[in-house]
Amino acid sequence: MGGMTTSYRIALISGDGIGAEVLPPTCAVLDAVGRRHGLTFTYDAFDWSCQRYLTEGAMMPADGLDRIRNHDAVLLGAVGWPGVPDHVSLWGLLIPIRRQFRQYVNLRPIRVLEGVPSPLTKATSEVDFVVVRENVEGEYSEIGGRLNRGFAEEMAVQEAVFTRAGTERILHYAFETAQQRRGQLVSATKSNGIVHTMPFWDQIAKEVGAQYPDVTWRQEHIDALVAKVVLDPARFDVIVGSNLFGDILSDLAGAVAGSIGVAPAANLNPERDFPSMFEPVHGSAPDIAGQGIANPLGAIWSASMMLDHLGHPEAGAEIFDAFASVLATTNHRTPDLGGDATTKEFTELVLDNVANL
Ligand code: IPM
Ligand code: MN
Repeated sequence: MGGMTTSYRIALISGDGIGAEVLPPTCAVLDAVGRRHGLTFTYDAFDWSCQRYLTEGAMMPADGLDRIRNHDAVLLGAVGWPGVPDHVSLWGLLIPIRRQFRQYVNLRPIRVLEGVPSPLTKATSEVDFVVVRENVEGEYSEIGGRLNRGFAEEMAVQEAVFTRAGTERILHYAFETAQQRRGQLVSATKSNGIVHTMPFWDQIAKEVGAQYPDVTWRQEHIDALVAKVVLDPARFDVIVGSNLFGDILSDLAGAVAGSIGVAPAANLNPERDFPSMFEPVHGSAPDIAGQGIANPLGAIWSASMMLDHLGHPEAGAEIFDAFASVLATTNHRTPDLGGDATTKEFTELVLDNVANL
C-alpha cells in the first residue's frame, strides 16, 4: 500500500429510531478496517428524519440532495416513525434519494451465517444468493390518483411503469452479477396474471439473456418462486425482480436467513454519476429504539458492501469475516438473535476481531 491514503467523504443519515444506534458502530468498524488499508473516512451527519418533519415540515431541506450529491457514498440508518405517515416519510427522504441519484439497483445478498439459525431446518450455510431489485420504477410509481373522495364511487388508480431502458439495465446488471457468481439466474415474473407489464419484462429478459450464453437462467412466477425460496433456498444464485417483487423477496429471504436485523442493502448507481447509498434492510424499530440493543450487523454488512462499491473488496471482506466469526465462534448476540448483548458490546467484539486480523 506504500503509505498511500485514500479519503472518502460519507454522508451519514441516521434517520429515525435505531438508525441512530446502528450507524456509530458502523463508522467505528469502517475506521478500524480502513486503517489497515490506507482508507480514511470523513463523515458529514445530516439530521433528516421524522423528527425534522415534525418541527420543520419536511424530512430534508429543499436543497438536501445537492448537499450530498458530491459525497462518495451515503450511509442511511432507517426512516419512519409513528406519527408521520410512512408514505410521507419515505417519499420525503429515502425514495427521492434512490430516484434522483439514479440508484436503480437494489442489491440484497442473503446468506445463512454460521451461528444464526434459520427458521427453516433445510437452510444451511450453502444458502448464498442475491436479490437484484429494480429500484426506481415499476409498481412504485407516482402516476395515478384518487377520485370521488368520500363518495360511493371513491377510487384509487396507480399505474405500474416499466420502461425498456429501466428493464434492460436492471436485467443486464443481474446477468452480469450472475456471471461473476455461479452463473445461475431466475427472473421473477407474473405474466400469467399481469398481462401487459410482465410479458414485456419477460420479453426483455429473453433479449438480454441471449447476450449472456454463460448464464443459465429461467423465469418463474413470483408466487411459485417464493414457495421455492422457502422450500429449497440453497438452489438460488441470483434472483432479479421488479421493484415490488424484489422488495417482498428480500424480506422473505432475510427471514429465511434467520434475521432481518442482519440483512444489508446497497442502492447502487452503477454509472457512478451520483453517490450510491447503503442501508440495513431493517426499519427504525420503535419497539426497541433507545434501549441500546439494536443489532448493528445490517448496517455493518451494508458498509462492507460500500467498500466493495468503492473498489476495496478485500477491506469489505474483512468486515464480513470480522462479524461472521463473532457469530460463529461466540455466543454473543443482540436480543433479536436470542442473546443479551448490547449494541456496544457486540460492536466491541467485531472491533476486537478486526484488530486481530
Ligand atoms: C425497503 C423498504 C422500503 C421499500 C419502504 C420503506 C418504502 O421496505 O427498502 O425495502 O419498499 O423500498
Ligand atoms: Mn422492503
